[in-house]
Amino acid sequence: MNNLFEKDEAELRHSELSSLIKYHDSKYYQEDAPDVSDVEYDKLRLEILEIEKKFPDLITNTSPTQTVGAKPSKGFSKVKHNVPMLSLGNVFSEEELNDFLDRLYKFLGVDKGKLIEIAAEPKIDGLSCSLRYEKGELVYAATRGDGYEGEDITANVRVIDDIPKKIKGDVPDVLEVRGEVYMRRDDFIKLNQQQEEKGKPVFANPRNAAAGSLRQLDAKITAERPLGMFAYALGEVSKPISDTQWGIREKLISYGFSEASPVALCSVAEDILKYYNHINKLRPDLDYEIDGVVYKVNRLDYQERLGFVSRAPRWATAHKFPAEQAVTIINDINIQVGRTGVLTPVARLEPITVGGVVVSNATLHNEDEINRKDVRIGDHVTIQRAGDVIPQVVNVVLDKRKAKSKPYKFPHQCPVCDSNAIREEGEVAWRCTGGLICEAQAVERLKHFVGRLAFDIDGLGAKIIQQFWDDGLLKTPVDIFKLEERDKTSLTPIRAREGWGDLSAKNLFESINNKRVITLNRFIYALGIRQIGEATAKRLASTYGDLETIKQTMVLATDYESQAYTDLINIDDIGPSTADDLVGFFNEVHNQDILKAIEQELEIKPYESPADQDNPVAGKVLVFTGTLSKITRAEAKAKAESLGAKVTGSVSKKTDYVIVGEDAGSKLKKAKELGVEVLNEDEWLALIG
Ligand code: IVH
Repeated sequence: MNNLFEKDEAELRHSELSSLIKYHDSKYYQEDAPDVSDVEYDKLRLEILEIEKKFPDLITNTSPTQTVGAKPSKGFSKVKHNVPMLSLGNVFSEEELNDFLDRLYKFLGVDKGKLIEIAAEPKIDGLSCSLRYEKGELVYAATRGDGYEGEDITANVRVIDDIPKKIKGDVPDVLEVRGEVYMRRDDFIKLNQQQEEKGKPVFANPRNAAAGSLRQLDAKITAERPLGMFAYALGEVSKPISDTQWGIREKLISYGFSEASPVALCSVAEDILKYYNHINKLRPDLDYEIDGVVYKVNRLDYQERLGFVSRAPRWATAHKFPAEQAVTIINDINIQVGRTGVLTPVARLEPITVGGVVVSNATLHNEDEINRKDVRIGDHVTIQRAGDVIPQVVNVVLDKRKAKSKPYKFPHQCPVCDSNAIREEGEVAWRCTGGLICEAQAVERLKHFVGRLAFDIDGLGAKIIQQFWDDGLLKTPVDIFKLEERDKTSLTPIRAREGWGDLSAKNLFESINNKRVITLNRFIYALGIRQIGEATAKRLASTYGDLETIKQTMVLATDYESQAYTDLINIDDIGPSTADDLVGFFNEVHNQDILKAIEQELEIKPYESPADQDNPVAGKVLVFTGTLSKITRAEAKAKAESLGAKVTGSVSKKTDYVIVGEDAGSKLKKAKELGVEVLNEDEWLALIG
């Protein structure tokens, strides 16, 4: 009994300490204005560590001992990447590797008898960074950020030994080198020991330690942390330094950069897999953590032709290592309601460490997955975690199942708004029908609206959105932009809230105000319309140009017979179902009101084609038909889009050019009927130079 009482008390104190430490972290990291001394702060941390040592089940993912400080919200200025820093697609099996290779041959139109060389290298588990050299001098360094804009970390990288500050010899005037900043395993262990001795937070893994160390406002702290960097790619360059990936690697070594090893030049799947298995075996003995290998097409002219699709290059992919697994108990199953009403079951787990990270939640995906695996509350389950992916339940350990356990019944009601949930034919998900009245959906929409690929508002994270929602400060996106004005006359202003102050409130308003100008594609994405991801939002923006045209078109497109509807479903990636979601969204009165109100607060910049406006196909509508002989259809289409043209599937009055290969059929006929200009393959190639 006594023991239990002690635990209750400990729990209470633990929760108090958590709030206190978080408050001081935010004062220190976000406001740069601590209001306790280091010694006092350290005392709090030691106390919570002591409690957790005695009662380890109080350790949760959100305990301050498990989180790494707070993200600095100011102090770093932003840097635009002239060449975007994108991510990589993944393959997980031999089959997917073969698909990747097949796509390369097909896109480039290379005969299988002729081999495409692939440079294979380790995939470092750190954080990417871009270094810009002008006339051989390091001028700035930036994090990846959202891929298009990162944070300026020049002062921090200057203290990393692996990074040359000056490059001698024959260097292009502009040279951007990209690579991964990481921390060696032994340095990571040492750092955590030191942190623990000081009562400071320990880092969950070397990657977090590297990120936390690099993104320090005070570069002196970075200097105390042992960081390295492996270079792996180029960004903007004024003059090529090689014509192969392999050559770039050698050039970078000659410039003084470090490169991860071993690497291999392979051509066939068999050799590539040999390399993969070899590295997987080496993995435990490497000095640093890797989470897979990366395959890159060696020839740079091929890389250029292959280009990018959405956020990843077609010419490279990552092959991840199998996920790490562990067995734990499911304490409960909760249903989360997403932005579009999808009900997602989440397993609440007895916390367990998997690959260095404490996991207490895992996704169960949907009803069918739960039934297929027969997952029940109270079961022992195997969970796995691969890289950054949300942990998953793999299977149930059946011999540990309790006799009285019952199958889980998936709810047919929304747990938040109580509306009926429906599961449409052919869909795996149950969806809440509450729409605009469902609070959970509204909150998720707000989170999406401020997210990184949407408005990207610093300091307005998921937790704050939820708190502001609970307190009635935010109900729709419009409220975000009215927050400052309303706060002036509020009896409970934001600065007076727990954990806030004058400075943090001012910073929040500033970061909101910084986002009052937004590009059309980001804006459309931010609206969170079902099925409209980043790439589709961009296509809509480039097709219609401005918001007014989109709104008008969606009204016209309510008529399935209209030209507006036909044009809409002719856009790549937009089929009848996505078109229904778009038309539905823009014709809903409540949404129209919100759009009207939000337009008063913002400047939405019409879409600007990223391509050179001088080229003759920018903004033109094209249709390819028949078999091309010099390049594949996929490449021709990708090239046209990269020049700012729109490629559609059928010929109409709006089509500017129809490009015909051999055996062109009905589309050629239609073009002639409508008087649309027809080009053969050579004329097309000549036109785009
Ligand atoms: S190449 C355009 N090579 O993995 C392609 N990336 O999951 C540029 N990474 O954002 C990436 N090791 O931060 C490349 N050898 C390697 C890498 C590597 C680690 C990271 C990089 C990238 C992420 C994608």
